[in-house]
Amino acid sequence: MSDYILGIESSCDDTSAAVLQGEYLLSNVIASQDVHKAYGGVIPELASRSHQLNIVPVVSEAIRRAGIRPSQLSAIAFTRGPGLLGSLLVGTSFAKTLALSLDCPLVEVNHLQGHILAGFVRQYDKPAPVPSFPYLCLLVSGGNSQIVRVDSPLEFEILGQTIDDAVGEAFDKCSKMMGLGYPGGPVIDRLAKLGDPDRFHFAKPHIPGLDYSFSGVKTSLLYFVRDEMAKDPSFMENNKEDICASFQKTLIDILMDKLVKAARQTGIRDIAIGGGVSANSGLRGRIVAEGERRGWRTFLPEFKFTTDNAAMIALAGYYHYLNGERCGLDVAPASRAAEL
Ligand code: KG4
Repeated sequence: MSDYILGIESSCDDTSAAVLQGEYLLSNVIASQDVHKAYGGVIPELASRSHQLNIVPVVSEAIRRAGIRPSQLSAIAFTRGPGLLGSLLVGTSFAKTLALSLDCPLVEVNHLQGHILAGFVRQYDKPAPVPSFPYLCLLVSGGNSQIVRVDSPLEFEILGQTIDDAVGEAFDKCSKMMGLGYPGGPVIDRLAKLGDPDRFHFAKPHIPGLDYSFSGVKTSLLYFVRDEMAKDPSFMENNKEDICASFQKTLIDILMDKLVKAARQTGIRDIAIGGGVSANSGLRGRIVAEGERRGWRTFLPEFKFTTDNAAMIALAGYYHYLNGERCGLDVAPASRAAEL
């Protein structure tokens, strides 16, 4: 008999529900929230309200597309954190209510573990290789920049992480300050393809060990643009492709330096990436190129699994479920990773 797992994700600004049959994906529905675009960033209260509007249709559609009845679900997995508290509250409350009404086991999932395991979601129509344990995962998103050593689906260790901004935050904030739009990652990625990555140079951090820092490069870019604009008001408009290409290259250099160091220190050669920034075409290209040079096996998630999605939450939940882990109806969301 198959295990059917429903996953529910609502940690930031995407409402998502997915159904897996074991490790295999049956459905993955995502409702993104365009309402934040006008503000250049996610407005938490608006995100919570949109989740409330979206959660019932999104979950119903995921179950319908999976072609199962709700009573067939073996477990309901939900993102308990980290994320925006009001957003998490919607998914958590909905998961608890559904579990109670169906008398179905409830499993809590750490959102970051979902990103780390995203590459293990299997698709019946697209067989793909998966990393062997232990592997390293470069987890890069709007809220995180980490190098994680993954020893099994349930055991992982953070080897290094940002001490200030996340890399996605650097993309988003710099794009906003340059007037290029939100979210910044996709915009900068697109413009960078048209520019010269070696034209401008921005400050790189010197942080010991495997930790990252992105606030210095962000400030370096912003001061540079401000000073050039004071001399020539059309500087940004005339040079935006080169600025984006040079800035993106700097971020990728910073990410790759520590990833290469981590691979050397641990001797691990299976390297995966995850999180929203893993959609970046420059980063994907560099990981593949470094991998070919260094004898790594590299694993890049499909685009639909790079940003927030419930398929990865259902999968992480499935592993916890198999491990006999359940949570009670008194579980509360946790906005910070340290509280999980
Ligand atoms: O994982 P994710 O969806 O959730 C959060 O952590 O919020 O990541 C969102 C981040 C944003 O910072 C966005 O700018 C970035 O992922 N992103 C990208 C690209 N697509 C999304 N960054 C660089 N290049 C991209 N193509």
